[in-house]
Amino acid sequence: MSNNRFPRLVTDAADFGRVAVVMGGQSTEREVSLDSGRGVLGALRDSGVDAHPIDGIPALLDAVRAGHFARVFNILHGAGGENGELQGALQSLGVPYTGSGVLGSALSLDKVRAKHVWLSLGLPTPKFKVLPRGADIHIAAREIGFPLIVKPALEGSSVGITWVFDESGLDAAVELARRYPGDLLMETLIEGDANEGGEFTVAVLGREVLPTIKIVPKTARYDFDAKYIAEDTQYIVPGLSGAAEDEMRALALSAFDAVGCFGWGRVDIMRDRHGRNWLLEVNTTPGMTSHSLVPKAAAAEGMDYPALCWRILETSMQREGAKA
Ligand SMILES: Nc1ncnc2c1ncn2[C@@H]1O[C@H](COP(=O)(O)OP(=O)(O)O)[C@@H](O)[C@H]1O
Ligand SMILES: [Mg+2]
Repeated sequence: MSNNRFPRLVTDAADFGRVAVVMGGQSTEREVSLDSGRGVLGALRDSGVDAHPIDGIPALLDAVRAGHFARVFNILHGAGGENGELQGALQSLGVPYTGSGVLGSALSLDKVRAKHVWLSLGLPTPKFKVLPRGADIHIAAREIGFPLIVKPALEGSSVGITWVFDESGLDAAVELARRYPGDLLMETLIEGDANEGGEFTVAVLGREVLPTIKIVPKTARYDFDAKYIAEDTQYIVPGLSGAAEDEMRALALSAFDAVGCFGWGRVDIMRDRHGRNWLLEVNTTPGMTSHSLVPKAAAAEGMDYPALCWRILETSMQREGAKA
């Protein structure tokens, strides 16, 4: 279970009280959240925690108001559970919960505003343009340059994202991203090569940064299928070594702190072929399925899945004294 590097702050499961594991909900990531939630619920129960599943925010708030729960393990992904709404409601009801507060959640789910904050602090994020409806996408694309990425500013799990290599792919990419609410984001495509760079993600747990994970998909692109279905994606942990590993971990923590995040989360970073790192986004309730990345990073540190769930739940105790 927990090792020396991660001592337990709470040693008796009873100290957590009755815990609601809130999952599912109505976002596009409902199924992934249910999968994550079932894993968390089982692990907490195996550790002796009095944990119970709740589907979605309305049911959770009813149960919390009725005094059924002492704290909440939030594993909702996407809008509602990951954007500050749930956090604000729980805060006003005085019930502690895992993960970031209102500010960190809202800023992180909005990829554009997160990028504005990072840029204001000199943290690197790919060049981008925000496209309101009716904007001339072809002019914007020429400013960014090909290849580029088009994505909705508020979705997760690679929903609505298209890689665009030349003018001919532009209209279809924009049409797809426009199906989702919020602004549309056009961004420089960052690519590694056989020797250097590629896709990385870095988990933050309390004030610790876990080893980086390098994600090497079999297919050229990392999309919904590669994330949740395919078995052939390769994960290298740690993804880097020496100073490069330290540098990426430090960048992840700076990015996490900059947008006011708290407790736990996962920072997605692209590394280019010159070894430069570029921040993509922070996930404030990252996936916790058997395929998920935070459990892989924790395992590399000797922390098994139940110990990880316990540690995340502990962050709700620290939150009781926190403001954000
Ligand atoms: N600028 C970029 N350059 C290269 N790949 C990107 C870029 N932006 C996104 N991607 C790819 O798309 C995936 C999803 O993008 P991301 O911004 O993390 O949104 P989300 O995970 O919320 O869907 C990333 O994991 C990465 O594979
Ligand atoms: Mg991502």
